[in-house]
Amino acid sequence: MHKLSIKTRLSRVKWTKAVLIVTVIVFVFILRKRVIMKLRSQKVEKLIYTNILLAVRKMQGHKRFIPADKFTLKHLPERYQDKDLYEYIKIISNQTVRVSVTMTTPHRPDVWPKTTQPYPFHNMSNRRNLRTGSGRVKFINKYIDGFKQNGIIGRTDSALCWCKKCQDSDSPSNVWWEFYVHTATHVVFDDIEASHTTLRLFYDKDDSPVVSVDKVSLVGANIEYDSCVLKSVTCDKTLGEKLTIISEKYVNIWEKITNKYNDPGREYTLNFIVSHPHGCAKQISIGQRKYELHVYGGTKYTYTTSTCPGSSGANVLFVGYNDTWRFDVVHSGSLKSGLNYSGVGVFY
Ligand SMILES: *[C@@H]1O[C@H](CO)[C@@H](O)[C@H](O)[C@H]1NC(C)=O
Ligand SMILES: *[C@@H]1O[C@H](CO)[C@@H](O)[C@H](O)[C@H]1NC(C)=O
Ligand SMILES: *[C@@H]1O[C@H](CO)[C@@H](O)[C@H](O)[C@H]1NC(C)=O
Ligand SMILES: *[C@@H]1O[C@H](CO)[C@@H](O)[C@H](O)[C@H]1NC(C)=O
Ligand SMILES: [Zn+2]
Ligand SMILES: [Zn+2]
Repeated sequence: MHKLSIKTRLSRVKWTKAVLIVTVIVFVFILRKRVIMKLRSQKVEKLIYTNILLAVRKMQGHKRFIPADKFTLKHLPERYQDKDLYEYIKIISNQTVRVSVTMTTPHRPDVWPKTTQPYPFHNMSNRRNLRTGSGRVKFINKYIDGFKQNGIIGRTDSALCWCKKCQDSDSPSNVWWEFYVHTATHVVFDDIEASHTTLRLFYDKDDSPVVSVDKVSLVGANIEYDSCVLKSVTCDKTLGEKLTIISEKYVNIWEKITNKYNDPGREYTLNFIVSHPHGCAKQISIGQRKYELHVYGGTKYTYTTSTCPGSSGANVLFVGYNDTWRFDVVHSGSLKSGLNYSGVGVFY
């Protein structure tokens, strides 16, 4: 061991002290930085958490919406926990589409017919905007060279596929499918709006693959009934066949349900709606039918079933109605009392 002078020793002690202090400072600095970073990430976490909380709270406001892919038999009131009914709702869900409209026609009236109630989106200063609603694919036909192959209702004036892709092509497909979509007139008002409409199909959850059609025409619209029928076209074989299978399943299950819930006394009050509230992924809501209002020579229904903006145009379905000869009714609006109401259904 070397013999060190006191001076050297002292300086060494000082040196060690200095190193220690520096180390401590560095350590504290790192620690502080870590703490700050931790606090910062906690802040971020908190922010995210607050957002999640907000979202959850929002969803709690929407608690009577069931995401379509999470729908189970148990979501039905006990009395209605029936496998056929469950299948029926799922098929209706499969037929439900989101309706997006990027144009508002100048032809909307200022008030609902024979009322002073303002009509939605009348007189919009900005006509190019995005609105969404809901709808349901009901009938589908397959055509080859203009000849109908199957399907119940409908005809075509076309000899070749008229989808956008084919219209821009030198060799349009000679095989195509045309399908009818029911929505509300206050969602798609006329030809102008129909030509700016896109339908998104099978949007069951946030990450569902995008399946959409952008060639839509107006078949008919009734302002009083708030009932609008659109026609769309596709030559996509996968889509055409999928919709055909769903349509066939629907016919089968509809027959079963109509026979099972034969209810002339109107005892069954179940009502359900499948829609795209706020343009989000498909949601199922279950509620009760309340009153019938006899207007415009038909029937409007009120119900307690949850709806939000974006649900308009969705089919409003009941059981126990033998509705072969009735127009399906669509969700039309909400009353001040909180009850939601449909467009008008007409019995032939
Ligand atoms: C039909 O809907 C059910 C539940 O809503 C879903 O699980 C199923 O994948 C859908 N089928 C099609 C063909 O979209
Ligand atoms: C709405 O229409 C009225 C008359 O039809 C017009 O005076 C008014 O400026 C319009 N408002 C907007 C926002 O376009
Ligand atoms: C439903 O109504 C149609 C037409 O009135 C009738 O032919 C059919 O038998 C009815 N079905 C049931 C289950 O009541
Ligand atoms: C009508 O729908 C709204 C929105 O989802 C809902 O809050 C309300 O409770 C519904 N009406 C009734 C009477 O339940
Ligand atoms: Zn085509
Ligand atoms: Zn909402």
